[in-house]
Amino acid sequence: MTNISDKDRVWIFDTTLRDGEQSPGATMTYSEKLEIAGLLDDMGVDIIEAGFPIASEGDFKAVSDIAKNSKDSVICGLSRAMFGDIDRAWDAIKHARQPRIHTFIGTSPLHRAIPDLTMDEMAERIHDTVTHARNLCEDVQWSPMDATRTEWDYLARVVEIAIKAGASTINIPDTVGYTAPNESAELIRRLIAEVPGADEVIFATHCHNDLGLATANSLASVEGGARQIECTINGLGERAGNTALEEVVMALKVRNDIMPWTTGIDTTKIMNISRRVATVSGFEVQFNKAIVGKNAFAHESGIHQDGMLKNAETFEIMRPEDVGLTETNIVMGKHSGRAALRSKLGDLGFDLGDNQLKDVFVRFKELADRKKEIYDDDLIALMKTGEDAGSDRLKLKSLQVVCGTNGPAKAELVMEVDGIESSTIQTGDGPVDASFNAVKALFPHNTRLQLYQVNAVTEGTDAQATVSVRMEEDGRIVMGQSADTDTVVASVRAYVNALNRLIVKREKTAPGNDTREVSYKDVS
Ligand code: KIV
Ligand code: ZN
Repeated sequence: MTNISDKDRVWIFDTTLRDGEQSPGATMTYSEKLEIAGLLDDMGVDIIEAGFPIASEGDFKAVSDIAKNSKDSVICGLSRAMFGDIDRAWDAIKHARQPRIHTFIGTSPLHRAIPDLTMDEMAERIHDTVTHARNLCEDVQWSPMDATRTEWDYLARVVEIAIKAGASTINIPDTVGYTAPNESAELIRRLIAEVPGADEVIFATHCHNDLGLATANSLASVEGGARQIECTINGLGERAGNTALEEVVMALKVRNDIMPWTTGIDTTKIMNISRRVATVSGFEVQFNKAIVGKNAFAHESGIHQDGMLKNAETFEIMRPEDVGLTETNIVMGKHSGRAALRSKLGDLGFDLGDNQLKDVFVRFKELADRKKEIYDDDLIALMKTGEDAGSDRLKLKSLQVVCGTNGPAKAELVMEVDGIESSTIQTGDGPVDASFNAVKALFPHNTRLQLYQVNAVTEGTDAQATVSVRMEEDGRIVMGQSADTDTVVASVRAYVNALNRLIVKREKTAPGNDTREVSYKDVS
């Protein structure tokens, strides 16, 4: 459990698997969640918020197995202020070495209006639910959602109630990313100074990035006395996301001269987990993102390059190795063997079992036949192609496309649907449109393509393209990804990958299926 007497320490609470997963389309499969939880535990995250167990059977199972496999991290399950939610969260986390229940309710005027509770009724609900959670679990965290837009008197009152009822961590969420850094610091300072019992609990900060202030607000809150930062890898999260773990951790490390607090994070593990989260969530990291963006350590201009060669500190405040970035070089070619591939993928954060390696090796050889020089980024893209969608009811068998200046593009597609192979020829406005029409002809569906994005992995005309698609059907959003030296093939694979994910989501949310999905926003 986190120890309040350790005044120099900031506890890192990662919510990639809960708040991060709430990003529309970022849904991760069961095995991806377990893998990410293992990486978070290994990198020294103090508390892992593994999910919202009442949300669905799938969430429950993932949280429960993460708890069973946990090593050093506290495993936390989220629950609304309802007895049933709390019981379900406890059932999921109770096998963890160190379990924590996190229960919350929206306390601002706007949020109070949704369950239609008076201030007194809500205060009573907080008392009862925190007490209930505390009767089950020694370690209870409580959050007044939208705390930063809650009236001061009411916030102070309910924080005091939660502390008296037994919460040992009080989290102050800036749910809509509304606050400025000076306000964040002041709010925590005032709560600690004025709420009876506040000096006996840990205050946490949970910031959203709607104004791009999440990292600044989190660090300001620490300045004000908070000792737990809630964050996600790559800043994943709803809307503009949450505070990025890598940013607060590196800021505390690099500027320890003015922010004298330490974390338990092994920063050399940052790059690997960032890549894995980008891959499994389908959310690419923007090139100029602090710490983990592709350009974060790249020096393009002549002046910078010259300075860097003479003394790296001229333009670098941290070393690439500090975040686990190894130099990108030509790694392999078609003569490279299986052991070399395993070792290189291991360096890049992919620990493969024998069967997985067998499959990746085949695809690696295919790629090496088409592309002479294979870089780290090619291997990372290759791993994306093989991502488990949780279902493989649709399989691309072959694709031939004719396109050019004369007439509409034509795609001839062979696809397996539920084990049965069929083919079609369709036309369209360009090769990608024709190919997507062909997929639609063999697997009719009514989705809206919200995003279609192509990136070149490396330089050169033989570079692989990574393609991401995001599609929506009746409020269900899924992402699909793939990579190939042929952009159209990568596009169709990404499309099929998204459809396979959609099939899983349809099954999970089918009416009458007791694996219903509850959102943490369903308050009553
Ligand atoms: O942003 C928020 O308020 C949350 C709560 C559920 C803690 O994520
Ligand atoms: Zn949040």
